[in-house]
Amino acid sequence: MAREFIVPGRIISGTGALETAKTILKKMGKKALIVTDKVMVELGNCAKAEQILAEEGIAYSICSEITGEPTDIMIEKGLKQYREENCDFIIALGGGSPIDSMKAIGSLVENGGNISDYMGKEIDVKMPPMAAIPTTAGTGSEATQFTIITDTKKDIKMLLKGRVLMPDLAIIDPQFTMTAPPAITAATGLDALCHAAEAYTSRKAQTLSDTFALSAVKRIFQFLPEAFRDGKNEEARVQMSIAALEAGIAFNNASVTIIHGMSRPIGALFHVAHGLSNAMLMKECLAFALPGAYSRFADLGRAIGAADEKDGEKEAAEKFLSAVERLTKELKTPAPADVGIGREEFFKAIDKMAHDAMESGSPQNTARDVSEEDLKNIYKKLWEA
Ligand SMILES: NC(=O)c1ccc[n+]([C@@H]2O[C@H](COP(=O)([O-])OP(=O)(O)OC[C@H]3O[C@@H](n4cnc5c(N)ncnc54)[C@H](O)[C@@H]3O)[C@@H](O)[C@H]2O)c1
Ligand SMILES: [Fe+2]
Repeated sequence: MAREFIVPGRIISGTGALETAKTILKKMGKKALIVTDKVMVELGNCAKAEQILAEEGIAYSICSEITGEPTDIMIEKGLKQYREENCDFIIALGGGSPIDSMKAIGSLVENGGNISDYMGKEIDVKMPPMAAIPTTAGTGSEATQFTIITDTKKDIKMLLKGRVLMPDLAIIDPQFTMTAPPAITAATGLDALCHAAEAYTSRKAQTLSDTFALSAVKRIFQFLPEAFRDGKNEEARVQMSIAALEAGIAFNNASVTIIHGMSRPIGALFHVAHGLSNAMLMKECLAFALPGAYSRFADLGRAIGAADEKDGEKEAAEKFLSAVERLTKELKTPAPADVGIGREEFFKAIDKMAHDAMESGSPQNTARDVSEEDLKNIYKKLWEA
């Protein structure tokens, strides 16, 4: 069956990427809304982008109101600013949160309304030009047609989709990830690993997504521990940025599966950072998924050198799982209680979380049949360790 494969309009990657991209930015519009967060302003990352725009004579207005993972309310504010400031294109500078916010603001520019109106529908509206500058090596949002926004009335992290959400330009410049502290490097890097491993073992995997997923998994095992240990190691940062991009391209075209499906409800109800909730779920979710796709997980085990040709498929798959466990330990992945989640509160929420996870459709992409009951059991297992 023929399949479509979607990537960003243009990608500029490597040291000096922003400098190289400035003439392209100039052609995108006259006034940019820079969607970012306060940390980027405080660290001086935003000033670096401002300088490039100033050099090119591009006007801009800064929206640094994205605090934590984006909500419908933040999107409303961003849209108001875009309109009041007469912007005609958007640049996101930050992790997945500012990049997703850019996409959501862009979706409302032409027709207005509320971002929740698009829940369950394909977004197909006229968008302003969009450029994404990721500062975490994680979400891959710079290369996806998704945006994840919290509906504050329903306490749901909405997964919204549309080809038009794919950025026109992705600028992968390692100078911006260098400032990420170890905990953020670990959580976001494991998010990228989930994207790649889920894409490779998804029912919706395709040949081209496999190429990107395998490459990302290898790169992450090779370079994430070093990026975590020494954030100033530029080679490790460059490699991790490429890995996150590859993983984004992979899951954009193959979908995520059970980890992400189960992770979003934790994020929505307990306000745990996305990478952390994924990382907590990795071991139990992969252990559940393994029997549905031994040969696919075996490929991953061999790709990272944890298994070789002598190992049978089940053995090689299990070696991949053990390698994931070692990596999550090495990166000091916290348990739910370590991030302030109360056990009782969590158990009370399990039915809603399992329901919301199934509703998102992601768990069903797992190469093993999965029921709401299975998800409840996995949520419970997070407290057994
Ligand atoms: N659109 C997609 O395809 C997609 C995929 C996966 C996740 N997501 C979404 O992305 C969001 C999470 O994004 P994220 O994990 O990149 O985190 P984030 O954007 O929420 O940032 C997390 C924290 O790290 C800080 N930070 C970011 N870059 C930094 C840097 N270079 N130096 C210092 N601090 C830095 C931020 O200021 C923030 O405090 C979630 O809402 C998640 O659901 C989207
Ligand atoms: Fe993710």
